[in-house]
Amino acid sequence: MSIDPQASRTPQSAPDVRAFTVGPVQENCYVVRADAHATKAIVVDPGDEAERLLQALDALNVETEAILLTHCHFDHIGAVAPVAQATKAPVYCPKIEQPLLTDVMRWVPPGFGPFESYDAEHLLAGGERLSLAGIDFDVIFTPGHSPGHLTYAAPGALLSGDVLFQGSVGRVDLPGGDWDTLLASLGTLVDRFDEETTVYPGHMGITTLGRERATNPFLRELAGS
Ligand SMILES: [Fe+2]
Repeated sequence: MSIDPQASRTPQSAPDVRAFTVGPVQENCYVVRADAHATKAIVVDPGDEAERLLQALDALNVETEAILLTHCHFDHIGAVAPVAQATKAPVYCPKIEQPLLTDVMRWVPPGFGPFESYDAEHLLAGGERLSLAGIDFDVIFTPGHSPGHLTYAAPGALLSGDVLFQGSVGRVDLPGGDWDTLLASLGTLVDRFDEETTVYPGHMGITTLGRERATNPFLRELAGS
């Protein structure tokens, strides 16, 4: 199903999340299931290597229920069209960034692609709750790296795109980027979620909010030091 603001909040355990690092920019695409035996999956940020991702979904023997996008930089959306067409899964896209998905090659730097454009079935602004593949996702507006950036929060897990990395944070020098806005988004995540929450970022390694709060130099600014 899609957006259901009335969905009841039944306790869920943390989902099974598998990472696939794809493409020349080494972007992390994630396949998320309610547990390791679930027959439905969500794909987050299919950035490149569509065939590899489709083979992985086949190997897991899952039906893809939705494709979620944190933001529309090319390295996160390069494989959206082929994966969506092959799986018939609807795509959920940040509303502000939809123009980047509907005209992908206009925004791709020389030497990358070609990638195919796609018209997303659902547009999100943040604040929605999605119930997909047996997992409740809160959609959180986390701009700063890009203007419409979203973080998808599942129980015990944040699919945080390019907001927060292991030991670093997202760059703000691309169009629509803004440091103070990014800091505010980081503050939202740190304030709202437990230290034990696993962070699945769009690049580099998986971490936890607590680890980043303790060791990430960019988060010191949040603490005022
Ligand atoms: Fe990005």
